[in-house]
Amino acid sequence: MQRIGVLGSAVVGKTLASGLKAHGYEVRIGSRTPSTLAEYSASAGIHAGTFAEVAARAEGLVLAVRGAGAEEALALAGSANLRGKIVIDTTNPISNAPPSDGVLQLFTGPNSSLMERLQARYSEARFVKAFNSVGSARMVNPSFAGGPPTMFYCGDDADAKAAVARVIEQFGWEPADMGSAVAARAIEPLCQLWCIPGFRQNSWTHAFRVLWS
Ligand SMILES: NC(=O)c1ccc[n+]([C@@H]2O[C@H](COP(=O)([O-])OP(=O)(O)OC[C@H]3O[C@@H](n4cnc5c(N)ncnc54)[C@H](OP(=O)(O)O)[C@@H]3O)[C@@H](O)[C@H]2O)c1
Repeated sequence: MQRIGVLGSAVVGKTLASGLKAHGYEVRIGSRTPSTLAEYSASAGIHAGTFAEVAARAEGLVLAVRGAGAEEALALAGSANLRGKIVIDTTNPISNAPPSDGVLQLFTGPNSSLMERLQARYSEARFVKAFNSVGSARMVNPSFAGGPPTMFYCGDDADAKAAVARVIEQFGWEPADMGSAVAARAIEPLCQLWCIPGFRQNSWTHAFRVLWS
């Protein structure tokens, strides 16, 4: 997976596109309106296109769109352009309702997840959940006195997970394989936990680390 298409024009898409480029990948970035990426594209040296254009040329994809727009973004990318491809899924199923006492509200239930829904709808692609439970500022080359933080990931395809684990490691994280796509039911809500110090104390630069024994 050398040629990566990033679907998403906001902070996560730009951060991961620039991080992937810095780590030697050939990257393109997509939006429904690629012209909105003109300034970023020129300064980062990363070509911008529509979701379909970017997906068509890529060997692997990063899905970095609003959770509620994820199905639409993949439909625009085009199912033929997803066939066999790894999709690094950074999305969270955050609902439009405001946080409740600092706890984000999700549009999924405890025994479901957005990634399972996407994997079922687009079975031709190989989804791997990752990068969803840390703020964009710490996604690439995080630096903490306590050592590398832990990146939980999951998905149904072993080869896809191995490729994503390599990216996670290149970016300076400890990859932690949580199993099949079902584990997204546990990984997606970590975004709620991660955001609580943000909403309560305006602290947005932490990351999770597991102390294994
Ligand atoms: N912000 C963070 O630090 C952070 C951290 C971890 C995970 N995440 C997750 O990462 C994802 C991206 O977050 P973000 O903050 O970068 O951006 P965002 O504001 O959540 O999403 C912006 C992107 O979503 C696309 N989009 C919105 N509605 C759409 C629709 N109906 N159909 C197709 N595309 C649609 C936009 O497309 P256009 O380009 O066409 O406008 C844009 O590219 C989210 O799921 C978020 O929960 C965010």
